[in-house]
Amino acid sequence: MNVLRTKSVEQSIRDTEEPAHRLRRDLSAFDLTVFGVGVIIGTGIFVLTGQVARDHAGPAVALSFILAAVVCGLAALCYAEFASTVPVAGSAYTFSYATIGEFPAWIIGWDLILEMALGAAVVSVGWSGYFASLLDDVGLTLPEAIAAPPGEGGTVNVPAICLVLLVTGLLILGVKISSRVNAVVVAIKVSIVLLVIFAGLFFIKGSNYEPFIPPATSTPEVGGLDAPLMQVLFGITPVSFGWLGIFAAIAIVFFAYIGFDIVATAAEEARHPQRDLPIGLIGSLVITAVLYAAVSTVVAGMQNYTKLSTDAPLADAFKFVGHPVFATIIDVGAVIGLTTVVMILLLGQSRIFFAMGRDGLMPPWLSVVHPRFGTPYRSTVIMGVIVAVLAGFIPLAELATLVNIGTLFAFLVVSIAVMVLRRTRPDLPRAFRTPWVPVIPVLSVLACLFVMINLPVETWLRFLAWMVIGIIVYAGYGYRHSRVRRAEAASIKS
Ligand code: ALA
Repeated sequence: MNVLRTKSVEQSIRDTEEPAHRLRRDLSAFDLTVFGVGVIIGTGIFVLTGQVARDHAGPAVALSFILAAVVCGLAALCYAEFASTVPVAGSAYTFSYATIGEFPAWIIGWDLILEMALGAAVVSVGWSGYFASLLDDVGLTLPEAIAAPPGEGGTVNVPAICLVLLVTGLLILGVKISSRVNAVVVAIKVSIVLLVIFAGLFFIKGSNYEPFIPPATSTPEVGGLDAPLMQVLFGITPVSFGWLGIFAAIAIVFFAYIGFDIVATAAEEARHPQRDLPIGLIGSLVITAVLYAAVSTVVAGMQNYTKLSTDAPLADAFKFVGHPVFATIIDVGAVIGLTTVVMILLLGQSRIFFAMGRDGLMPPWLSVVHPRFGTPYRSTVIMGVIVAVLAGFIPLAELATLVNIGTLFAFLVVSIAVMVLRRTRPDLPRAFRTPWVPVIPVLSVLACLFVMINLPVETWLRFLAWMVIGIIVYAGYGYRHSRVRRAEAASIKS
């Protein structure tokens, strides 16, 4: 039983040349960066800033954002080496298949479903909240029953379902169309963020920054499944504020950066993957880190951190200083902006499915490309429907942490895999080399682990449950149908 068989890098690249499975090479470095920024700026900055400043970091919330960017940056340096060496759809899944073996690759692919499909569902639920509030602004109130899932006062979240289905349709029409739509939307979103920064500057009150880092207060011990793993393992109880609070908040604001890795999933569609992917990955991360630090600092200067809204902090700060028109503009921007996040998360998801189908680990008919649009339409439709159902019927707010743990796990594996590939295939041409190997990958692993143990035990249990299901599916289907395995078997026979 060889569950650690690898698919050679050359084979991965050859597979992309098969006509039935070939994606169009359409994307430039600029497109990729726009992709990154489009998926990164979303619920994280539009919603979580308020909650994190209020409960964990105070006016110094920007520091949590910067530290989270460092965690992602370390992983991005590893992703960039892989993406430029193995420019094939499937991101961390493909990289692991080429390095550590089929089973770990399966685990990663399965894990990325958690990041992207669940992430898309979470963001569409966030979007529907902004959408409802925007309708409120113009005097239309959606009945609760059709605007919220069961458990949150409603029956079904119709706006979230509509959004997911609409986005699925766009993706089927083709990457080029989608990325054009995306570019316009990203421009709007970035303008809104810049508007908050520059308009907000005029309303900053120095007194709101005192103290910049409020003194640490120990929070009442959270028991049971809500406790962070760190508390269970080391008895360290969560602390609000102070430097420890700032560090703990990284586990939450991490969500705000999710998505830069998805640039890597478009490797196969990049015109010059060797050069453009590292630019797309690192560029989008740096741009968003700067914007986040600026926005969060401005907002915390406009309104005392204890008063920041936990639903719509950016818009609310402008209402607080007496400018509701700005607030409405920000609401519009959020509604438009979150759309692209859902879109790119779904795109990344469908590409991973596609890659897994092509390798025989999922039924191969999933990876057949549409004759006219050149997109893997079957996997796109299937995931679109599943995500729409999730978004419509399940209250997903707390599942956001599950998205975080899934993503961190993938980062961790990629960081390890970069070191493995350096040893096993030192000969491969690498357009981008991670600097200071093994220092950067090891730091990346440690940083991911640190953030992961700050997440609640419940999140860990859900994560493990999802992984167990994945192992069962692999044992029942993927192991036997793997194309690499079949090729091995055939060569043994002949
Ligand atoms: N980073 C994305 C967001 O904040 C997922 O919505």
